[in-house]
Amino acid sequence: MSWGPEGHAIVADIAQAHLDSAAAAEVASLLKLEGLDRLDQISSWADGNRKEFPHTGTWHYVDIPLKAERYDAARDCKEGNCVVAKLDENVHVLADKSASPQARLLALKWVVHLVGDIHQPLHAEDNDDKGGNTVQVQFFGQGTNLHAMWDGGILRHALNLQPGPNYSFDHAAVQADAMTLDAAISPVQRANWATHNLLPQIADASIVWADESHMLARNVAYMDIDKPSGEAWSQRYQQKAWPVVQTRLEQGGVRLAEVLNEALD
Ligand code: ADE
Ligand code: ZN
Ligand code: ZN
Repeated sequence: MSWGPEGHAIVADIAQAHLDSAAAAEVASLLKLEGLDRLDQISSWADGNRKEFPHTGTWHYVDIPLKAERYDAARDCKEGNCVVAKLDENVHVLADKSASPQARLLALKWVVHLVGDIHQPLHAEDNDDKGGNTVQVQFFGQGTNLHAMWDGGILRHALNLQPGPNYSFDHAAVQADAMTLDAAISPVQRANWATHNLLPQIADASIVWADESHMLARNVAYMDIDKPSGEAWSQRYQQKAWPVVQTRLEQGGVRLAEVLNEALD
């Protein structure tokens, strides 16, 4: 799947805190169409609809072969049905003032979600294992898989979050965690992660973000997984993976804010 609902909410909360007044007003008026008022409330909408709209299943990731150097559109994004192309597409609908409010709200739901997913390292790779979904592990005593660890297991362990039923979670607790992560972002990081004038280059930026994820999958996620079980392994893996997860959530939030500030000016 994707980042669990907590991961998507963290990206949305960080972005929400950095919207300029014009973007905040536009976001508010789009969300109001459905009686909502915060980005975290729509951040996992796209996952809740994967059964209803099965053709959108591949939009959440891009299977760049783990051993490949980088993204190749012809090989990895056939007919534009991958996260790289869908993010670009939806950013343009969101920025289109002549599109209907309903179409722009739908695009907003996808943009908030896909900026999150493209930053999840295992959403930009495949090692003949469905992005790690078929790699079984025992993580802190629980049977799960490598992909699910990166979607949620690692961040839930670090932040001590308990998942609820049907994508539910404690929004206030997660928002507090998001603000703690946000406070750890330095001005230099903020400036480096999201350059101004991002909108005209969003197609290229999406590729850069997917390539970053793919590189992290290669250099971190797939290291030390020959015997993925036991307390010592779990501790060791958590220690190297959490800083990466943390940075990807922060980068996702900063970049989402910049995309929204430019698309909704
Ligand atoms: N299914 C196949 N590849 C996937 C990936 N990289 N991420 C999520 N789901 C997938
Ligand atoms: Zn997703
Ligand atoms: Zn996932």
